[in-house]
Amino acid sequence: MSNYLITSALPYANGYLHLGHCAGAYLPADIFVRYLRMKGENVLWVCGSDEHGVAITIAAEKEKVTPKQIIDKYHHANENAFAKFGMSFDIYSRTSLDLHHHTAREFFEDFLQKGYLVEREEEQFYDEYAKMFLPDRYVEGTCPNCGYEKARGDQCDNCGAYYNQLELKNPISLVSGKPPIAKKTIHWYMQFNHFQKFLEDYIESKASYWKENVLQQSRSWLKQGLSERPITRDLNWGIKLDGIDKLAPEKTAGKVLYVWFEAVLGYISATKHYYQDKNPEDWKKWWQNPDTKYIAFIGKDNIVFHTLIFPALLYAKNDGYILPHNVPANEFLNLEGQKFSKSRNWSIDLKDFLNEFPDYVDSLRYTLAMNLPETRDSDFTWKDFQNRNNNELANILGNFINRTLQFIHKNFDGKVPVLDEKDKKLPEIWNEIIHLDNNDLNKKKGFLNENEIQLIDTLKTCFFNISKNYSNFRFRDAITETMNVARAANKYFNDEEPWQTFKNDKARCAKSLFISAQLIRTLSIVFTPVIPFTCSKINKLIAIPDYTGGVNSYVPGKDIWSTALEFKLPEGHSLQAPKILFARIEDQTIEEQIKKLAGDSEKNNNLITIDEFSKIQLKTAKIIKAEKLPKAKKLLKLEIEIEGSKRQIVAGIAEHYSINELIGKIIVVVANLKPTKLMGEISEGMLLAANTQNGKLALIVPDRSDIDSGADVR
Ligand code: 2FM
Ligand code: ZN
Repeated sequence: MSNYLITSALPYANGYLHLGHCAGAYLPADIFVRYLRMKGENVLWVCGSDEHGVAITIAAEKEKVTPKQIIDKYHHANENAFAKFGMSFDIYSRTSLDLHHHTAREFFEDFLQKGYLVEREEEQFYDEYAKMFLPDRYVEGTCPNCGYEKARGDQCDNCGAYYNQLELKNPISLVSGKPPIAKKTIHWYMQFNHFQKFLEDYIESKASYWKENVLQQSRSWLKQGLSERPITRDLNWGIKLDGIDKLAPEKTAGKVLYVWFEAVLGYISATKHYYQDKNPEDWKKWWQNPDTKYIAFIGKDNIVFHTLIFPALLYAKNDGYILPHNVPANEFLNLEGQKFSKSRNWSIDLKDFLNEFPDYVDSLRYTLAMNLPETRDSDFTWKDFQNRNNNELANILGNFINRTLQFIHKNFDGKVPVLDEKDKKLPEIWNEIIHLDNNDLNKKKGFLNENEIQLIDTLKTCFFNISKNYSNFRFRDAITETMNVARAANKYFNDEEPWQTFKNDKARCAKSLFISAQLIRTLSIVFTPVIPFTCSKINKLIAIPDYTGGVNSYVPGKDIWSTALEFKLPEGHSLQAPKILFARIEDQTIEEQIKKLAGDSEKNNNLITIDEFSKIQLKTAKIIKAEKLPKAKKLLKLEIEIEGSKRQIVAGIAEHYSINELIGKIIVVVANLKPTKLMGEISEGMLLAANTQNGKLALIVPDRSDIDSGADVR
């Protein structure tokens, strides 16, 4: 029995979880954890809400409530949705707990004492009206690189440039809407350079079995050389530094630990939380035990924090902490071919899915599992969800269980058939064979018929592959092989043709159904990690102890997994009549969802349809006259001609074109705009111009000289 400590990235409690989150760090971890529990390994899976940082304060401002209200709302909502989705965490904690604040401050103080932290004074934007320093996401301005006017504090969405916030031109505080000033502030920098060599050795020691993307990102950071990074922020929400020994109160006022420094420590706090009412020191049995295998499930955006930063903190603390054994980071899941985006409403929240499809939790788990973004970005589509449910879960797995139970109820009184005298040794021999290697197996095969030999070969291969793929974090392959077990069961049933043998060879019929009944149990075990709710129902149908790999039924040391292929149901064991395990999903249901998704996204997205676009009449026009408006520096009054008729428009191009440049030019205008008045002048249209990188305007003009006024522009 090995010790497995499993963590999943702590989701921010600033919004509802969507299916993309689920496929990243949660469902794979749950599948893995249930698999380990089935094997009787010693497992602890911890997770919880990440409740600090700017992500939370921004959500609070958007919803016009306090950060505390935000984290309470989303922590509980997400915990709830996770539970319904079957996430079998041992604990779902939260970083706002005192316990966590205490842990994080302990690390900070320790690093201070060890001299890993350096105090630095630097200038940062400060909002004098709101009386606060401005985190990067609270400032906007003109990009120093491309001139884009709505660039964020540390990064430009237009050209992708990263810069220091002080380089931003014309900065505006998003809190007060006023320009901030630059003001000095103190921060503590962790000297990560101390750990360069250590981390290089650590990463290389994993080279043979970590995922390529995880190794690559970690190596590329190391190649650039680790430097110091600030681990504090000016923010009034988070883990405060007040009262820390040796730090003057005026220095620590208004400072909190940087969320990335403390969030990863949340895994340790969550473990302490788990043991709080048990043996409070027992968290050390995991975190400070060289025999623990620690696996950190995350999405690809969190890689270096788990492969470099967190290991550096654990190592620097020097208390015998273990480091991640593996960090199987996933890529991203898309939705119908596009990135999940809450702001564009291109998303499916887990809670909404669960409300609308409460009976299809396992179908969702299965669909997501078959599409996990393990090696590249993958896609969730409603059509695939329908296919997986109808054509795989219902038609293959559900069908086998259904036909077997039905046949047994119709012809064998609802009981596992009693074997003919000559077949009495079947269970004993079978249970021996399935644990033999192939050579020894061949010797025993004389006892089995052709179909049984084929069945046993397939079962053994599948089972071996399932276990191997789970151990290598190849869950899609593991579950594909799991469905192959159900395919093999159906094939066996078909090949045996019990509806015929019932008429002409009762002994054989009994044997086929005896074996088929055992296969239901096999299926329940191998499917448990991915569809535990259904397997719980199956266990009831065949009246065996309900073991789903969840926290309640789990007995460390009890290996159920390895018995999956054994024949355990005795002759005469009563079985229940079949029940539908996977109801079919109709086309209409799926079409409604697709429509809704598109509709929702249009609402927020400002996407317009072709019909809407075609309402806008764009035409070429010739400028005949241009004159300045006395009171408006930026505006010009233009007389234009479209297909022989003249009209007047007022345009904001006075600072970009001289009057002489304009006369005679063919431009593009919106010709069917409702007339409006600008600075007292009527304007009957709008011209098209593009913003240039340096803030100038350029008129849109035809690319050929033979275009006259009045031409349609499409
Ligand atoms: O990306 C996120 O959602 C972060 N809240 C993940 C934190 S993982 C760990 F550090 F806790
Ligand atoms: Zn830019």
